[in-house]
Amino acid sequence: MIFSRILGTGSYLPPHVMTNDDFAKRLETSDAWIRERTGIRQRHIAEASQASSDLALEAARRALQAAGVAAGDLDLIIVATSTPDYVFPSTACLLQAKLGVKGCAAFDVQAVCSGFVYALATADSFIRSGNNKKALVVGAVVFSRILDWNDRGTCVLFGDGAGAVILASADRPGIHASVLRADGSHAGMLSVPGNVNRGAICGSPFLQMDGQAVFKFAVRVLEESARETAAKARMSLDEVDWLVPHQANVRILEAVARKLDLPREKLVVTVDHHGNTSAASVPLALDEYVRAGRIRPGQRLMLQGVGGGFTWGSTLLTL
Ligand code: ACO
Repeated sequence: MIFSRILGTGSYLPPHVMTNDDFAKRLETSDAWIRERTGIRQRHIAEASQASSDLALEAARRALQAAGVAAGDLDLIIVATSTPDYVFPSTACLLQAKLGVKGCAAFDVQAVCSGFVYALATADSFIRSGNNKKALVVGAVVFSRILDWNDRGTCVLFGDGAGAVILASADRPGIHASVLRADGSHAGMLSVPGNVNRGAICGSPFLQMDGQAVFKFAVRVLEESARETAAKARMSLDEVDWLVPHQANVRILEAVARKLDLPREKLVVTVDHHGNTSAASVPLALDEYVRAGRIRPGQRLMLQGVGGGFTWGSTLLTL
């Protein structure tokens, strides 16, 4: 049997930090409101010159180094992003070129904040099929580019960043099970409903969201997804050492952990200092905890995504 296993993790945050007080200087909001409703204290914002592929490049280099893998050994690159550098080519192809390699398969996955979990499950399937042996899986976003900076209900929530893992074939798991789900009938709950049309932006280029509906939906499907994925892996949730959910809002994360009867100490939280970095949030959180020595090899992790589409999914793995 062929399985896939994470060999190394990496991440990158652009240096510019924006605090809640920075928002309060230009919008009717406050540090207290943002912290109380979301748990967010600060987020990182990319420089104007930095695109998703630039953030992805830094995270990828760090993951390659941690894994002891050369870029030339990769045979698959998948980038999860909702802020691609261009309409096309894919950010994965641009990343491949920036890594100085050619030939391996490279494509993007668009599943918004579930993107990394979707991309990881896709890479796992490619490796299990025997087609690929070493995959670079990245989540990278510059969400600051698709926010209406006058809309206090949305712009305070998000940040920019990238996270990456190297996934390689192995004779033991690694990834035990993944479950991916979507329900397109909820497309309007969270969207950027615009496109490029004959040289103009058609529709809106800004993120729109029904915050309360998203909140309830996210808590429900993350709980269901964790249970479904553990059942598929024939494991109990008690065997999970760390829940690594998409970092949307600390209240969503704590509600999910409570519903799953997981103690707070098993919950990975980085949203307080990263904000919501969409497809990058799970690999960013993972890398931070790995580098801090908190998440250790051999531990069981439940990675979870939920976001626009609506999409959601989980992967249960042993690091
Ligand atoms: N500062 C101050 N006041 C604000 C702000 C702000 N930044 N944003 C909204 N308000 C005001 C509203 O205008 C409203 O005022 P009103 O009562 O005078 O009309 C009041 O606060 C309450 O607004 P609600 O939207 O009801 O506030 P709520 O308690 O629902 O919190 C929030 C809003 C934080 C967005 C919450 O609904 C939430 O976190 N939802 C989840 C959304 C999320 O995580 N989205 C991320 C993308 S989806 C994903 O990643 C899965």
